[in-house]
Amino acid sequence: MAYETIVGRTREDLEKFGTTACGYIGKHIVGTGEDAHLTTPVKIDLLKPHVILCSGKRGSGKSYSIAVVLEELLQLSEQYASKTAAVVFDPVGIYWSMKIPNEQQVQLLTKWGMEPKGYSNVKVYVPEGLKESYEKAGIPVDQTINLSVREFKPDDWALAFNLERTGEFAITLEKSFNHLMEGGSFGLDDLMSKINDDPQASQHVKNVLSNFLEVSKSWGIFSETGMTIKDIVKPGELSVIDLSRVAGESWGVRNLLAAWVTKQVYDNRVIARKEEELAKVENREPKSVFPLTWLVFEEAHNFIPSDKQTASSEPIKIIAKQGREPGVSLVVITQMPNKVHQEVLSQTDIVISFRLTSRDDLNALHAVMQTYMQEKLEKVIGDLPRMPGAAVILDDNLEKIFTVNIRPRISWHSGGTAVIG
Ligand SMILES: Nc1ncnc2c1ncn2[C@@H]1O[C@H](COP(=O)(O)OP(=O)(O)OP(=O)(O)O)[C@@H](O)[C@H]1O
Ligand SMILES: [Mg+2]
Repeated sequence: MAYETIVGRTREDLEKFGTTACGYIGKHIVGTGEDAHLTTPVKIDLLKPHVILCSGKRGSGKSYSIAVVLEELLQLSEQYASKTAAVVFDPVGIYWSMKIPNEQQVQLLTKWGMEPKGYSNVKVYVPEGLKESYEKAGIPVDQTINLSVREFKPDDWALAFNLERTGEFAITLEKSFNHLMEGGSFGLDDLMSKINDDPQASQHVKNVLSNFLEVSKSWGIFSETGMTIKDIVKPGELSVIDLSRVAGESWGVRNLLAAWVTKQVYDNRVIARKEEELAKVENREPKSVFPLTWLVFEEAHNFIPSDKQTASSEPIKIIAKQGREPGVSLVVITQMPNKVHQEVLSQTDIVISFRLTSRDDLNALHAVMQTYMQEKLEKVIGDLPRMPGAAVILDDNLEKIFTVNIRPRISWHSGGTAVIG
């Protein structure tokens, strides 16, 4: 039977909140193969925090679909928008185009009764030192990011550079770092001088660390003072942290940046949540506010991999496990769910999956769901009609699995397949 569904909204919440604050993401697909046709709308709950996994093969529609969810967040009514924010960590460099109307699929949009629109509340953030490189590539930059060196613990640096944490490189770095932390603000050059002045460190260790710190400088995100999280996360806005022009091999900096933002968002929400509760009890408006935030990780297997620890691993795991209470949502996008850390998969309450063929990746989805649904999932994924945007949705809140055609985007999608010509 055809029915309107609100993915992620439990039956109790549906009774309590009705259909407020949900986003239109597509239509049910009924039938398979040639007989497949679209029926009633599918919406998604944007009121409560969720952990969403979006998986599927290359070019299957993952980024496109999550942009659809983000479009819906961006057009929440003022009452909700003023309390909601989103951040996307974008190593591919495709979300900035949400600023531009989707003039390339006008016909499709018309068929769906929709019109192209660009979003002025999408803001693009890039590492300060690389601004020019983005502008040359035609990416519109709204603001640059610079973070204080103090914000990162020696452990973060060790992870960013793949140093063994009890080895001599990490220990030398930690010693100088801790010395400087006792004083005022400092930059990478101060850290380097401190290391060079260390009588116990060998020349070899100094050379290696100096090399690492030179690399960090080239990332262009560190400064002595740094900005605060409220400069980046703002109510009613989507902050695109475009990491596409960062030197390809250095996941270290992407992970460090993601770690900082994720941790700050979590800490600020924990504080805000306490104040919100208190204000409720005292029947007044909360004094400090910080929006309920959605954190989106493109190519998530690089931020929270299954087989090793990165600087962003721990902060993201905390969101997956404890984000519900303070109100932080997590969206992980990957071609390879098998390569995303188990602790995130097991906390997922909504899966949006396109075609997946590898056995390991299908097995990874099993980790998300109850046993009785596993067989069904494989069949539903196998039967997915071959039209763009056809996906399986698995909703742990409703204990349901169904197929959906994700609606066309209102804003421009810049992640399409390249064609010669
Ligand atoms: N719901 C949809 N409606 C219409 N076209 C779609 C839809 N979803 C995806 N497409 C088309 O499929 C193309 C590929 O989608 P997308 O870039 O999201 O793939 P992806 O899964 O993110 O791939 P990759 O793993 O390479 O990043 C889009 O450029 C678009 O043309
Ligand atoms: Mg993509």
